[in-house]
Amino acid sequence: MALRAAVTADMDAGLLPFCTVTTLGTTATGAVDPLEPVTDLCRGVGMWHHADGAWGGLGAGVPALASHYAGVGGLDSLTVDPHKTLSVPVGCGALLVPDPEHLHTAFAHQASYLTAGEPDALPWLSHATIELTRPGTRALGLWATLHHLGRDGVTRLIEHYLVLADRLRERITAEPRLQLVAGGPWPVACFRITDPNGGGPDALHARIARRVQNNGRVYLATVAIHGRTVLRAALCNYRTTTEDLDLLIREVLHAADAEQSAAGTDQPPQHR
Ligand SMILES: Cc1ncc(COP(=O)(O)O)c(C=O)c1O
Repeated sequence: MALRAAVTADMDAGLLPFCTVTTLGTTATGAVDPLEPVTDLCRGVGMWHHADGAWGGLGAGVPALASHYAGVGGLDSLTVDPHKTLSVPVGCGALLVPDPEHLHTAFAHQASYLTAGEPDALPWLSHATIELTRPGTRALGLWATLHHLGRDGVTRLIEHYLVLADRLRERITAEPRLQLVAGGPWPVACFRITDPNGGGPDALHARIARRVQNNGRVYLATVAIHGRTVLRAALCNYRTTTEDLDLLIREVLHAADAEQSAAGTDQPPQHR
């Protein structure tokens, strides 16, 4: 694999590769890296295997995604952002490690003015993170969300996003003026307009996304896939329904028609 070749090349050059970072749910397309072969490679050469699950780490608990997340328990560390998947206020990120001693080894420091408290006092935060002050409101938002949803509720929430993403990809595929470019297994759909008029497709997609955003009814971004700018929808709002997906498609097609008109073509708009 390319990673093994890169590690070997680094070692041959006298460098010391020490860490590989895989991604669970890439920002652009929602792809999930295969974990087990990377862990095997890391173990063989003494490297740390960290997974960036900021966006898709919580997929590890969803049965439908089990094959994609095989090996998550063998990671050396994993980041998860509850402010993405769980809709808690920014910024609530978590670094998970199988052995808390790793945090202590990496971060612990004891300033002379931090005197030891009672034997059963809570440990200083600076023994496990780069922070000292306890950010209570961040933890409270996450605690309340987990308390309300429970483990099953978190799974059901993510399953809701996965169903929405499947439906959106189906609708895009069924719409002749749209083409699905990438997306999944995490709930993302990247797509393009198939009949761009009045400008290059890259610029057109950027203008369509701006129009849709300015309309204020749905949010749509652009992303570069293999050097081309396409439209990107991420399903991560617990209030989103399948009706919203229809609205999204309508908004995109209206924006495409508006761009076509603005470009001065004499073809009538195709969608109302
Ligand atoms: C895969 C991934 N990692 C990391 C980040 C950064 O997250 P934050 O700075 O919000 O913690 C993002 C943000 O979109 C992301 O999608």
